[in-house]
Amino acid sequence: MYRIKSYVRRTNRLNQRQAQVWDQLGPQYFWRFPPIVTIDHKLSGAGSIEIDAASTLTVSRFSTIDILEIGVGNGENIVYAAEKYPNCQFLGLEVYRPGLANTLLKLKHKPLQNLKLMDIDAIDALEHFAVHSLREIWIYFPDPWPKKRHHKRRLINSGFLELCSKTLRPAGIMRIATDWLDYAEQIIEVFEQFPVFKPVEMARNRQVTKFEQRAIEAGRIVTELTYELLDV
Ligand SMILES: C[S@@+](CC[C@H](N)C(=O)[O-])C[C@H]1O[C@@H](n2cnc3c(N)ncnc32)[C@H](O)[C@@H]1O
Repeated sequence: MYRIKSYVRRTNRLNQRQAQVWDQLGPQYFWRFPPIVTIDHKLSGAGSIEIDAASTLTVSRFSTIDILEIGVGNGENIVYAAEKYPNCQFLGLEVYRPGLANTLLKLKHKPLQNLKLMDIDAIDALEHFAVHSLREIWIYFPDPWPKKRHHKRRLINSGFLELCSKTLRPAGIMRIATDWLDYAEQIIEVFEQFPVFKPVEMARNRQVTKFEQRAIEAGRIVTELTYELLDV
């Protein structure tokens, strides 16, 4: 099915250092969906059966995750958080491979047992989580799509919130930050239309990334939005 992508397509080419660390540390940190296997049952006359190994294996793996960060960029925040909270299991999603490779570079001299990464669109991953399993979902500086005609590409919309509400456990938290005021307003509106979440005040716990630093230097105001899933 065709789905609008929430991210800007950029070249996914890795430089030599990135390609090296990808091969070296990728197997340790990356989770991948196993392929769908088709079994031919000609003898029994049952036709062919598709076994979606992805759903069974992935749901059980995903149920171990406490905190999901969507769009980790170069991994500054998720590596900082996984180091700071060794008893929490983290999963970071990113569609931009050089960003994931830069995340691996940060792990080269600092191996972490409680961090996994996936090279995948968040929407595809969210569909595989065990129901009500996550403690927190973090989305820091989602692609802003500033032009009005591109607003439909913005990640945080009602369909996305519905997916998040299924994967978060009751009292689960969504932490969001954006440096685009009109995106912040749009996010507030979408949450208002989705009253299974209520806004809450929480202390900021994230690392300033290069991306955020650039936004601050450019004079943009960062809006922090935190919501709690009600016990429905
Ligand atoms: C503006 S950057 C911010 C990166 C990082 N959070 C930071 O603060 O530095 C947004 C990132 O989200 C990623 N992204 C956007 N939509 C995504 C999606 N649907 N699934 C996974 N990653 C996504 C982009 O590739 C990009 O690297």
